[in-house]
Amino acid sequence: MRLGVIGYGNMGESFAKALRERAEVVVYDVSEEKRQKAWAEGFGVVKSTEFLLEHSQWLLVAVKPLDVVEVLKSLRGKVGERLLISLVAGLSLSKMKELSDASKLIRLMPNINALVGKATIACAFGSGVEEKEKESFLKLFSVCGSLYELKEEAFDAFTALAGSGPAFVFRFIHALALAGVKEGFPYEVAKSLALDVVSGSCELLKEKGGHPEEWVVKVASPGGTTIEGIRVLEEKGFAGIVIECIQKTSEKARKLL
Ligand SMILES: NC(=O)c1ccc[n+]([C@@H]2O[C@H](COP(=O)([O-])OP(=O)(O)OC[C@H]3O[C@@H](n4cnc5c(N)ncnc54)[C@H](OP(=O)(O)O)[C@@H]3O)[C@@H](O)[C@H]2O)c1
Repeated sequence: MRLGVIGYGNMGESFAKALRERAEVVVYDVSEEKRQKAWAEGFGVVKSTEFLLEHSQWLLVAVKPLDVVEVLKSLRGKVGERLLISLVAGLSLSKMKELSDASKLIRLMPNINALVGKATIACAFGSGVEEKEKESFLKLFSVCGSLYELKEEAFDAFTALAGSGPAFVFRFIHALALAGVKEGFPYEVAKSLALDVVSGSCELLKEKGGHPEEWVVKVASPGGTTIEGIRVLEEKGFAGIVIECIQKTSEKARKLL
């Protein structure tokens, strides 16, 4: 299977690099510099979307929202039986259809963790995508991260939790590191400790399962140190802050559409 990637920026490059494990990937980018980069990194490169159409069975659109109208219009009436996959934030299946007139459409919403092949990806399938195409798509794209099939109505909430989520996690890690500095560690040491704690806790919860609160109880012994910290989080409304953060982000995502 040959996949044509349109736009070799952050997302296009990350997806192209992950997908080449399982498919032949050909790249088109409007920028000569990006085309040269893709070529130097071992991809087949073409100089126009027309060539890309000739050489691809599926197409992945990875340009900025501002550029996508031009890209989809340039594909209008030429996509045929190919799957047209977009990871452009806020671009609905109906808008993709209106602009490209393609019949087999897939909408994705990844997050920045695609850069390390660990993206959390929402996907919605247009009605023209056949069951076996959907299965092939899921098999191929699982190499980029975890895929969640969602109704399009859930994309705003997903954008807040999983799309913007890494920024909130980075903020938490930075806050932990600052707390370490307050307690006397150099920032780099404190950051390394914070990263280990966050990634180790995620691994533990994934591997052992259970409710997160069960693990809190295991760490917080009666009258011990941890419960002192938990009391502060409770008093300051930690869960409430996080819930409001996701809610406001989701509302903003809805307004952008
Ligand atoms: N970054 C994220 O965390 C993230 C998360 C979820 C979804 N997304 C979505 O992913 C998409 C790409 O984001 P990105 O961060 O990868 O953007 P990016 O780094 O700017 O990459 C886009 C690339 O497409 C090129 N391009 C522009 N117009 C083109 C055209 N007509 N034909 C072919 N290539 C063209 C750009 O070239 P020039 O630079 O020369 O314009 C650039 O190399 C966006 O729609 C965004 O909504 C991103």
